[in-house]
Amino acid sequence: MKTLKIAIQKSGRLNEKSVEILKNCGLSFENYKSSLISTVTNFPLEILFLRDDDIPEYVQDGIADLGIVGENVITEVNADVTYLQKLGFGKCTLKIAVPNESEITDVSGLEGKAIATSYPVILQKYLDDNNVNAVVRTISGSVEIGPGLGLSDAICDIVSTGGTLKSNGLKPFGEVMKSEAVLIASKGMELNEDVIELLQRIRSVLLAKE
Ligand code: PRP
Ligand code: ZN
Ligand code: MG
Repeated sequence: MKTLKIAIQKSGRLNEKSVEILKNCGLSFENYKSSLISTVTNFPLEILFLRDDDIPEYVQDGIADLGIVGENVITEVNADVTYLQKLGFGKCTLKIAVPNESEITDVSGLEGKAIATSYPVILQKYLDDNNVNAVVRTISGSVEIGPGLGLSDAICDIVSTGGTLKSNGLKPFGEVMKSEAVLIASKGMELNEDVIELLQRIRSVLLAKE
C-alpha cells in the first residue's frame, strides 16, 4: 500500500491547530519549521507542509491524498475535491475593509473604486451579486497595506481577530464569506484501511472536543 500524504499549512493561522489535531490522533512526527515533509513514525502517513493557497490544487491533482485548509481557499480556486469534515477551527470571515477615515460605509459605496484582494473570484461574485462595478486588484499577500500605498480604496481579506485590520488603520464592513478549516480528500483517493483508520481517529478527536 502506498504511504498516505496529508497536506497542511506550513505557517499561518491554521498551522498550529492542524498539527495539534494530528498529534491528538496519536500520530508521532517531527514538526521542524524548516522541513517541508515529515514522516509519521507510527502510522503510514507523510505530512506535507505547504502554503495554504496551494493545498486545494495539490489535493485535486492527487499529489496529496488529504488536506486541511480553509474553505475560502477552496472556493477561490473552485477545487474539485471531496469535503470530508468541518474541523471547528480557523473560523473567520472574508470582509471588505476601508481606511478608518474613508467615507465608504457599505457595498454600494464601492462603485467605481479599486479593491485589493487575494480572493478575486469570490470578491467578483460578491460585487456582481450586489450590482456593483469596481476594479479588482489581485495581490498575493499583505493586502492590508494597499490603501495606505494608494493601490486601492478598499481591501477584501480574511478577518479573524480583527487585529491585522486594526493595526493597519482599517475598518471592516460586509460579510463576503464565512469560512473555517475543513478536511478534504482527493477524488481519486483509494478508501483503504489506513484512510478509514485515520478518518475514525480524526472524528473521535473532534467528538471528544464537543
Ligand atoms: C489572514 C489575513 C490576515 C490575517 C487576519 O491571513 O490575510 O493577514 O489572517 O487575521 P486577524 O483578523 O486575526 O488579524 P491568512 O492566515 O489567511 O494567511 P495568508 O494570507 O498568509 O494565506
Ligand atoms: Zn495563504
Ligand atoms: Mg494574510
